[in-house]
Amino acid sequence: MAVQIKNTLSFIESLPKFFSSLDLKNTAFFIDENVHKHHGHLFPKELVTIIPSGEEQKSFSSVERLLNQLLELGLDRSGELIGVGGGVVTDLTGFVASIYLRGIKFRFLPTTLLAMCDAAIGGKNGINFSGFKNMVGVINQPAGIIYYPAFLESLPKREFNSGMAEVIKHAIINGGELNDFISSNTQADIISNAHLIKELCLMASRVKVDVVEKDEKESGRRKVLNLGHTVGHAIESTHSFLTHGESVAIGMVIAARIAVLKNLASEELVEKIISHCHAHHLPTEIGLKPKNLIEKIAKDKKRKKSSVDFIMPYEIGDVRIVPLELLELEAHLNTIANE
Ligand SMILES: NC(=O)c1ccc[n+]([C@@H]2O[C@H](COP(=O)([O-])OP(=O)(O)OC[C@H]3O[C@@H](n4cnc5c(N)ncnc54)[C@H](O)[C@@H]3O)[C@@H](O)[C@H]2O)c1
Repeated sequence: MAVQIKNTLSFIESLPKFFSSLDLKNTAFFIDENVHKHHGHLFPKELVTIIPSGEEQKSFSSVERLLNQLLELGLDRSGELIGVGGGVVTDLTGFVASIYLRGIKFRFLPTTLLAMCDAAIGGKNGINFSGFKNMVGVINQPAGIIYYPAFLESLPKREFNSGMAEVIKHAIINGGELNDFISSNTQADIISNAHLIKELCLMASRVKVDVVEKDEKESGRRKVLNLGHTVGHAIESTHSFLTHGESVAIGMVIAARIAVLKNLASEELVEKIISHCHAHHLPTEIGLKPKNLIEKIAKDKKRKKSSVDFIMPYEIGDVRIVPLELLELEAHLNTIANE
């Protein structure tokens, strides 16, 4: 049976009202440290575990620490874990909740735009391993994804931009209303208008929900959500100063450039993607070291022997999965690096 995600998404206007609906004797919150700084006073103090900010938290050592914490809090099988943070905390919370006592209920309160529009949705939970992103994990859907857009008021601007990269990705995949929305509203318009923020989250999350509901285990179409990620992940692991979204933005532009080199897309598509990224202050190029990137990509979990399922944008609203030999990918990266 196809997984149902749409009905697990909800918006709330008050945190205390949400807390009053919980069994607080058997609930724990994992909260990102920066979220805690700004909003921690709103949470029941004794149930909160603070997760330091940063991608390094997606590791076995933090999983072990967090499992111990749940034991200490005495959460039993009917307990609930709520992850409050960006994609790091939601990925980690979903993974810990999925293995603690062989799996307990978990929900997310995403606090970054990236988590609201992407990371919290779809049930991929996991950690990095041996230098590779999201190498270990499970697919297990949260019981709920709760939107409290007021969290975004404290989000640093650069992190907002980073979230826009995944929104742009969804707009390229789906075209339609989301692409129109980001083409016709500036970032200043969006940030200053709670109604537009809600619209953005609804439209961007709908794209992901629709794809995942049809292919939860990523046996086919779900792979399109990796647009920009094959190269993006490799860039992210070799350029630690970039955010996830910044790496994905560069990865999407490279994917479009490769589509042009293969005569599958026009230069206009590259220009359109660059223009979306620049409108949200995202980088679109970086000095490439193709050999290093290919070494990373070769170990990527999406690799099939000597090729990858490369996600190729043909035009806005038309993104396809194209098997690509690593040797050909390296040749294209070399061409782009020398342009
Ligand atoms: N599971 C998935 O399907 C999926 C999809 C996309 C990305 N991801 C993962 O998501 C992660 C990136 O997520 P992210 O961009 O949300 O990063 P993040 O979780 O690291 O958060 C970014 C920064 O913002 C801070 N922060 C978060 N919310 C805040 C708030 N409301 N106010 C102030 N500061 C706040 C955090 O402390 C952190 O420093 C990566 O690990 C990526 O692999 C997962």
